[in-house]
Amino acid sequence: MQLNNCDNWGTERLGTKGEGQGVKSQAVLKEEGNESVDRPLLEVRGVERTFQVGGAPLHVLKSIRMELQPNQLVMLRGRSGSGKTTLLNCLGGLDTPSKGEIWFNGLPFHRMSDHERTLVRRNEIGFIFQAYALMPLLSARENVELSMRMAGIKKSLWKERVEYCLSLVGLEKRMHHRPFELSGGEQQRVAIAKAIAHRPKMLLADEPTAELDSAMSAQIMAVFQNIIRTEQVTICMTTHDPTILEVADHVYEMVDGKFL
Ligand SMILES: Nc1ncnc2c1ncn2[C@@H]1O[C@H](COP(=O)(O)OP(=O)(O)O)[C@@H](O)[C@H]1O
Ligand SMILES: [Mg+2]
Repeated sequence: MQLNNCDNWGTERLGTKGEGQGVKSQAVLKEEGNESVDRPLLEVRGVERTFQVGGAPLHVLKSIRMELQPNQLVMLRGRSGSGKTTLLNCLGGLDTPSKGEIWFNGLPFHRMSDHERTLVRRNEIGFIFQAYALMPLLSARENVELSMRMAGIKKSLWKERVEYCLSLVGLEKRMHHRPFELSGGEQQRVAIAKAIAHRPKMLLADEPTAELDSAMSAQIMAVFQNIIRTEQVTICMTTHDPTILEVADHVYEMVDGKFL
């Protein structure tokens, strides 16, 4: 399977969707000579997230500052309840901070509408969850196709890209299997193939290895390192497993909603 055959895809999709909807990617900004191209892929400044619980404010994120550079593997480490999932949701535009700024690829997530963030998310961000989040009745291939359908990618481009992504995660021989016919580690690898199929710039993974044994976790981390090289993607993942931290380019330690 040749990666080259998929090379025009990002541009083609950008031309048909991103520009027309008022959401400019870094590539578009670059053509316009905007200086923001030298920025990190993601910049977080002074982010707070407060929930109202029983009429009282619960401060879950407190003055968070972080950066993700292109092609990095960054980990958020912290105990359960420290605020990792809340932060990841804000980074991916699923939630908005109560205060502070989140710039993704030069776009101000903190100021954009839900609709604008949804468009960016569909095209430029991939999500991976602890519990795999695959459709149980669909085969591995059909699960991966689903994310391309969601991103509005032409059907004629699906087959080759699906096969390529499944081979990247070492599952080309499991293409026709449904989730229940696969091990936990294999299901998570299908979920990774699904998360990268539409060529996102950033992958967010919430405790992707929490339900896996150490051998399977190591496989997932090897897959992450491989796709950073081959797909030019930045990965930010949460974990509380100290043994996998050594492969990270950077680790943010989170305690009670703050970085140490
Ligand atoms: N929507 C919400 N409403 C109220 N409290 C929330 C909400 N989401 C998260 N929290 C609280 O924020 C804290 C951090 O949760 P979370 O981000 O899930 O932590 P982690 O992922 O590190 O386990 C917890 O105390 C949780 O109960
Ligand atoms: Mg969590």
